[in-house]
Amino acid sequence: MIVSMPSIARSAAPGKVILLGEHAVVYGRAALAATIDRYVEVTVTPRSAALPSTPPRLHEALGRAAELTGIEPFGLNASVRADLPVSVGLGSSAALSVALIRALAKCAGQSLADDVVCTRAFEIEKIFHGFPSGIDNTVVTYGGLIAFRRDVSVTRLSTPRPLPLVIAIGRVPRETQTAVRALRDKWSADCATYEPVFDQIDALVAQAEDAIAAGVLPVLGALMNANHRLLQRLGISTDELDAMVGLARNAGALGAKLTGGGGGGAVICLCDNDRDRLVQQFTHAGWRAFAADIAERGSDGAADARGFEQRNSASA
Ligand code: PMV
Repeated sequence: MIVSMPSIARSAAPGKVILLGEHAVVYGRAALAATIDRYVEVTVTPRSAALPSTPPRLHEALGRAAELTGIEPFGLNASVRADLPVSVGLGSSAALSVALIRALAKCAGQSLADDVVCTRAFEIEKIFHGFPSGIDNTVVTYGGLIAFRRDVSVTRLSTPRPLPLVIAIGRVPRETQTAVRALRDKWSADCATYEPVFDQIDALVAQAEDAIAAGVLPVLGALMNANHRLLQRLGISTDELDAMVGLARNAGALGAKLTGGGGGGAVICLCDNDRDRLVQQFTHAGWRAFAADIAERGSDGAADARGFEQRNSASA
Protein backbone atom coordinates (compact mmCIF):
# COMPACT_ATOMS: atom_id res chain seq x y z
CA MET A 1 0.00 0.00 0.00
CA ILE A 2 1.37 3.43 -0.95
CA VAL A 3 0.81 6.19 1.64
CA SER A 4 1.53 9.87 1.14
CA MET A 5 4.32 11.63 3.08
CA PRO A 6 2.93 13.18 6.22
CA SER A 7 5.82 15.14 7.77
CA ILE A 8 9.50 15.89 8.27
CA ALA A 9 11.63 13.17 9.87
CA ARG A 10 15.28 12.82 10.74
CA SER A 11 17.51 9.84 11.57
CA ALA A 12 21.25 9.31 12.00
CA ALA A 13 23.37 6.18 11.77
CA PRO A 14 27.03 5.55 12.60
CA GLY A 15 29.89 4.61 10.32
CA LYS A 16 31.86 1.42 10.84
CA VAL A 17 35.25 -0.24 10.63
CA ILE A 18 36.03 -3.83 9.77
CA LEU A 19 38.52 -4.92 12.41
CA LEU A 20 39.35 -8.19 10.65
CA GLY A 21 37.97 -10.33 7.84
CA GLU A 22 36.96 -8.07 4.92
CA HIS A 23 36.79 -9.83 1.54
CA ALA A 24 37.04 -13.28 3.12
CA VAL A 25 33.57 -12.53 4.54
CA VAL A 26 32.22 -12.46 0.97
CA TYR A 27 33.33 -16.13 0.71
CA GLY A 28 31.54 -17.26 3.86
CA ARG A 29 34.30 -16.66 6.39
CA ALA A 30 33.77 -14.72 9.63
CA ALA A 31 34.60 -11.04 10.06
CA LEU A 32 34.62 -8.59 12.97
CA ALA A 33 33.13 -5.12 12.60
CA ALA A 34 32.32 -2.21 14.89
CA THR A 35 30.41 1.04 14.62
CA ILE A 36 32.39 4.22 15.23
CA ASP A 37 31.44 7.59 16.68
CA ARG A 38 31.02 9.32 13.31
CA TYR A 39 27.61 9.66 11.71
CA VAL A 40 25.48 10.19 8.64
CA GLU A 41 22.22 12.04 9.23
CA VAL A 42 19.27 12.02 6.83
CA THR A 43 16.38 14.50 6.95
CA VAL A 44 13.33 13.70 4.85
CA THR A 45 10.80 16.39 4.04
CA PRO A 46 8.03 16.87 1.50
CA ARG A 47 9.61 18.10 -1.69
CA SER A 48 10.43 21.77 -1.84
CA ALA A 49 10.80 23.81 -5.00
CA ALA A 50 14.48 24.58 -5.68
CA LEU A 51 16.75 21.61 -5.10
CA PRO A 52 20.33 20.94 -6.11
CA SER A 53 20.80 18.17 -8.67
CA THR A 54 20.85 14.71 -7.13
CA PRO A 55 23.69 12.22 -7.67
CA PRO A 56 22.05 9.34 -9.60
CA ARG A 57 22.71 6.57 -7.07
CA LEU A 58 21.48 8.71 -4.18
CA HIS A 59 18.34 9.47 -6.15
CA GLU A 60 17.88 5.75 -6.78
CA ALA A 61 18.46 4.96 -3.08
CA LEU A 62 15.80 7.42 -2.00
CA GLY A 63 13.29 6.04 -4.50
CA ARG A 64 13.97 2.44 -3.48
CA ALA A 65 13.79 3.26 0.25
CA ALA A 66 10.45 5.00 -0.29
CA GLU A 67 9.17 1.99 -2.19
CA LEU A 68 10.27 -0.40 0.59
CA THR A 69 8.53 1.81 3.15
CA GLY A 70 5.34 2.04 1.12
CA ILE A 71 5.61 5.79 0.71
CA GLU A 72 4.75 7.50 -2.55
CA PRO A 73 8.29 7.81 -4.03
CA PHE A 74 7.65 11.08 -5.82
CA GLY A 75 7.44 14.24 -3.79
CA LEU A 76 10.23 13.53 -1.30
CA ASN A 77 13.27 15.59 -0.48
CA ALA A 78 16.12 14.06 1.54
CA SER A 79 19.08 16.05 2.75
CA VAL A 80 22.19 14.25 3.97
CA ARG A 81 24.85 15.51 6.36
CA ALA A 82 27.84 13.56 7.66
CA ASP A 83 30.95 13.91 9.76
CA LEU A 84 32.03 10.52 8.40
CA PRO A 85 34.50 10.58 5.49
CA VAL A 86 32.80 9.07 2.42
CA SER A 87 34.06 6.50 -0.12
CA VAL A 88 36.91 5.31 2.08
CA GLY A 89 35.48 2.07 3.52
CA LEU A 90 34.02 3.54 6.69
CA GLY A 91 30.44 2.51 5.97
CA SER A 92 29.01 5.79 4.74
CA SER A 93 26.68 4.07 2.27
CA ALA A 94 25.44 1.66 4.95
CA ALA A 95 24.91 4.53 7.38
CA LEU A 96 23.04 6.45 4.68
CA SER A 97 20.93 3.38 3.86
CA VAL A 98 20.00 2.68 7.48
CA ALA A 99 19.30 6.33 8.31
CA LEU A 100 17.17 6.69 5.18
CA ILE A 101 15.12 3.62 6.03
CA ARG A 102 14.60 4.80 9.62
CA ALA A 103 13.73 8.37 8.60
CA LEU A 104 11.17 7.19 6.04
CA ALA A 105 9.68 4.76 8.54
CA LYS A 106 9.24 7.67 10.95
CA CYS A 107 7.50 9.62 8.20
CA ALA A 108 5.14 6.73 7.61
CA GLY A 109 4.54 6.27 11.34
CA GLN A 110 6.07 2.79 11.23
CA SER A 111 7.96 1.37 14.18
CA LEU A 112 10.45 -1.03 12.63
CA ALA A 113 12.24 -3.90 14.34
CA ASP A 114 16.01 -3.83 13.81
CA ASP A 115 15.94 -6.91 11.60
CA VAL A 116 13.48 -5.21 9.25
CA VAL A 117 15.68 -2.10 9.13
CA CYS A 118 18.69 -4.29 8.38
CA THR A 119 16.92 -6.20 5.58
CA ARG A 120 15.63 -3.03 3.94
CA ALA A 121 19.01 -1.29 4.27
CA PHE A 122 20.62 -4.29 2.56
CA GLU A 123 18.42 -3.61 -0.48
CA ILE A 124 19.73 -0.03 -0.58
CA GLU A 125 23.33 -1.20 -0.09
CA LYS A 126 23.00 -3.28 -3.28
CA ILE A 127 22.50 -0.03 -5.22
CA PHE A 128 25.88 1.17 -3.97
CA HIS A 129 27.85 -2.08 -3.83
CA GLY A 130 26.31 -4.65 -6.18
CA PHE A 131 26.38 -7.87 -4.14
CA PRO A 132 27.64 -6.97 -0.66
CA SER A 133 28.05 -9.54 2.10
CA GLY A 134 25.68 -7.58 4.36
CA ILE A 135 28.25 -6.93 7.10
CA ASP A 136 28.05 -3.13 6.77
CA ASN A 137 24.27 -2.69 7.03
CA THR A 138 24.20 -5.28 9.84
CA VAL A 139 26.77 -3.63 12.09
CA VAL A 140 25.37 -0.17 11.39
CA THR A 141 21.82 -1.29 12.25
CA TYR A 142 22.69 -3.05 15.51
CA GLY A 143 25.74 -1.04 16.59
CA GLY A 144 28.69 -2.02 18.81
CA LEU A 145 31.10 -4.80 18.02
CA ILE A 146 29.92 -7.88 16.11
CA ALA A 147 31.18 -11.13 14.64
CA PHE A 148 29.44 -11.70 11.32
CA ARG A 149 29.19 -14.76 9.13
CA ARG A 150 27.23 -14.20 5.96
CA ASP A 151 23.76 -15.85 6.00
CA VAL A 152 24.76 -17.79 9.13
CA SER A 153 25.22 -15.72 12.27
CA VAL A 154 25.61 -12.33 13.88
CA THR A 155 27.08 -12.34 17.39
CA ARG A 156 27.45 -9.30 19.61
CA LEU A 157 30.89 -9.15 21.25
CA SER A 158 31.91 -7.36 24.39
CA THR A 159 35.33 -6.45 25.70
CA PRO A 160 36.57 -5.50 29.17
CA ARG A 161 38.74 -2.76 27.62
CA PRO A 162 37.89 -0.07 25.09
CA LEU A 163 39.57 -0.43 21.70
CA PRO A 164 41.24 2.96 21.07
CA LEU A 165 41.47 3.47 17.32
CA VAL A 166 43.09 5.95 15.01
CA ILE A 167 41.73 6.05 11.47
CA ALA A 168 43.83 7.53 8.67
CA ILE A 169 42.46 8.35 5.24
CA GLY A 170 44.44 7.68 2.08
CA ARG A 171 44.43 10.01 -0.89
CA VAL A 172 42.85 7.45 -3.23
CA PRO A 173 39.15 6.67 -2.67
CA ARG A 174 38.26 2.99 -2.69
CA GLU A 175 35.60 1.43 -4.90
CA THR A 176 34.43 -1.69 -3.09
CA GLN A 177 32.49 -3.12 -6.00
CA THR A 178 35.59 -2.95 -8.23
CA ALA A 179 37.85 -4.52 -5.58
CA VAL A 180 35.34 -7.31 -4.84
CA ARG A 181 34.87 -8.03 -8.56
CA ALA A 182 38.64 -8.07 -9.23
CA LEU A 183 39.19 -10.58 -6.43
CA ARG A 184 36.24 -12.66 -7.65
CA ASP A 185 37.88 -12.92 -11.10
CA LYS A 186 41.21 -14.00 -9.58
CA TRP A 187 39.47 -16.50 -7.28
CA SER A 188 37.44 -17.97 -10.15
CA ALA A 189 40.64 -18.48 -12.15
CA ASP A 190 42.65 -19.93 -9.25
CA CYS A 191 40.48 -21.07 -6.38
CA ALA A 192 43.23 -23.25 -4.90
CA THR A 193 45.42 -20.21 -4.19
CA TYR A 194 42.74 -18.00 -2.64
CA GLU A 195 40.68 -20.42 -0.54
CA PRO A 196 43.53 -21.20 1.90
CA VAL A 197 44.11 -17.45 2.39
CA PHE A 198 40.43 -17.00 3.26
CA ASP A 199 40.77 -19.89 5.74
CA GLN A 200 43.79 -18.24 7.34
CA ILE A 201 41.85 -14.99 7.70
CA ASP A 202 38.97 -16.95 9.25
CA ALA A 203 41.40 -18.43 11.80
CA LEU A 204 42.72 -14.95 12.65
CA VAL A 205 39.16 -13.76 13.24
CA ALA A 206 38.53 -16.63 15.69
CA GLN A 207 41.69 -15.72 17.62
CA ALA A 208 40.74 -12.05 17.56
CA GLU A 209 37.36 -12.86 19.11
CA ASP A 210 39.22 -14.46 22.03
CA ALA A 211 41.63 -11.52 22.31
CA ILE A 212 38.72 -9.07 22.37
CA ALA A 213 36.84 -11.10 24.99
CA ALA A 214 39.97 -11.16 27.17
CA GLY A 215 40.84 -7.50 26.46
CA VAL A 216 44.37 -8.40 25.33
CA LEU A 217 45.03 -5.56 22.93
CA PRO A 218 48.63 -6.45 21.92
CA VAL A 219 47.38 -9.82 20.67
CA LEU A 220 44.53 -8.17 18.78
CA GLY A 221 47.02 -5.74 17.24
CA ALA A 222 49.29 -8.57 16.10
CA LEU A 223 46.29 -10.32 14.53
CA MET A 224 45.39 -7.13 12.66
CA ASN A 225 48.95 -6.95 11.33
CA ALA A 226 48.71 -10.56 10.18
CA ASN A 227 45.36 -9.83 8.51
CA HIS A 228 46.93 -6.92 6.62
CA ARG A 229 49.67 -9.23 5.31
CA LEU A 230 47.02 -11.65 4.02
CA LEU A 231 45.12 -8.78 2.39
CA GLN A 232 48.38 -7.84 0.67
CA ARG A 233 48.60 -11.39 -0.58
CA LEU A 234 45.06 -11.08 -1.97
CA GLY A 235 46.19 -7.97 -3.87
CA ILE A 236 43.85 -5.70 -1.94
CA SER A 237 46.42 -3.31 -0.48
CA THR A 238 48.29 -0.48 -2.22
CA ASP A 239 51.69 1.15 -1.75
CA GLU A 240 50.01 4.09 -0.04
CA LEU A 241 48.03 1.89 2.39
CA ASP A 242 51.19 -0.10 3.15
CA ALA A 243 53.07 3.15 3.85
CA MET A 244 50.31 4.29 6.22
CA VAL A 245 50.32 0.95 8.02
CA GLY A 246 54.12 1.20 8.29
CA LEU A 247 53.92 4.69 9.74
CA ALA A 248 51.45 3.53 12.40
CA ARG A 249 53.54 0.54 13.44
CA ASN A 250 56.75 2.60 13.59
CA ALA A 251 54.91 5.11 15.75
CA GLY A 252 54.09 2.37 18.25
CA ALA A 253 50.57 1.32 17.28
CA LEU A 254 49.73 -2.18 18.52
CA GLY A 255 48.49 -3.10 15.07
CA ALA A 256 47.37 -1.52 11.81
CA LYS A 257 45.64 -2.67 8.66
CA LEU A 258 43.59 -1.44 5.76
CA THR A 259 39.86 -1.55 6.43
CA GLY A 260 37.03 -2.23 3.98
CA GLY A 261 37.27 -2.77 0.27
CA GLY A 262 40.92 -1.71 -0.15
CA GLY A 263 42.58 -0.54 -3.34
CA GLY A 264 42.47 2.84 -1.60
CA GLY A 265 40.48 4.12 1.35
CA ALA A 266 41.44 4.03 5.01
CA VAL A 267 43.63 2.24 7.54
CA ILE A 268 42.74 1.51 11.15
CA CYS A 269 45.33 1.54 13.92
CA LEU A 270 44.86 0.01 17.37
CA CYS A 271 46.60 2.10 20.02
CA ASP A 272 47.40 1.82 23.69
CA ASN A 273 49.28 5.09 23.94
CA ASP A 274 48.91 8.68 22.91
CA ARG A 275 46.46 8.71 20.01
CA ASP A 276 46.94 12.44 19.43
CA ARG A 277 50.60 11.85 18.68
CA LEU A 278 49.80 9.26 16.02
CA VAL A 279 47.16 11.56 14.51
CA GLN A 280 49.80 14.31 14.38
CA GLN A 281 52.31 12.02 12.70
CA PHE A 282 49.80 11.13 9.99
CA THR A 283 48.92 14.78 9.55
CA HIS A 284 52.58 15.71 9.35
CA ALA A 285 53.07 13.10 6.63
CA GLY A 286 50.14 14.58 4.68
CA TRP A 287 47.30 12.20 5.60
CA ARG A 288 44.02 13.10 7.27
CA ALA A 289 43.58 11.14 10.52
CA PHE A 290 41.39 11.13 13.60
CA ALA A 291 40.88 9.21 16.82
CA ALA A 292 37.73 7.07 16.87
CA ASP A 293 35.93 5.04 19.50
CA ILE A 294 33.45 2.24 19.12
CA ALA A 295 29.88 3.53 19.21
CA GLU A 296 27.91 1.15 21.37
CA ARG A 297 24.55 2.13 19.91
CA GLY A 298 23.49 1.55 16.33
CA SER A 299 21.27 3.76 14.24
CA ASP A 300 18.54 4.07 16.83
CA GLY A 301 20.72 5.82 19.37
CA ALA A 302 22.77 7.89 16.97
CA ALA A 303 20.58 10.95 16.60
CA ASP A 304 23.20 13.29 18.01
CA ALA A 305 25.54 13.28 15.02
CA ARG A 306 28.01 16.13 15.36
CA GLY A 307 30.46 18.35 13.49
CA PHE A 308 29.23 17.63 10.01
CA GLU A 309 31.66 18.18 7.15
CA GLN A 310 30.00 16.59 4.16
CA ARG A 311 26.77 17.91 2.71
CA ASN A 312 24.56 16.45 0.05
CA SER A 313 20.98 16.76 -0.97
CA ALA A 314 18.64 14.38 -2.74
CA SER A 315 15.16 14.41 -4.14
CA ALA A 316 12.82 11.91 -5.73
O1 PMV B 1 32.22 -1.17 1.83
P1 PMV B 1 33.56 -1.44 2.40
O2 PMV B 1 34.67 -0.81 1.65
O3 PMV B 1 33.61 -1.24 3.87
O4 PMV B 1 33.84 -3.02 2.20
C1 PMV B 1 33.01 -3.99 2.77
C2 PMV B 1 33.75 -5.23 3.02
C3 PMV B 1 33.95 -6.20 1.87
O5 PMV B 1 34.20 -7.44 2.49
C4 PMV B 1 35.16 -5.82 1.04
C5 PMV B 1 32.76 -6.30 0.93
C6 PMV B 1 31.55 -6.97 1.55
O6 PMV B 1 30.48 -6.88 0.94
O7 PMV B 1 31.65 -7.60 2.62
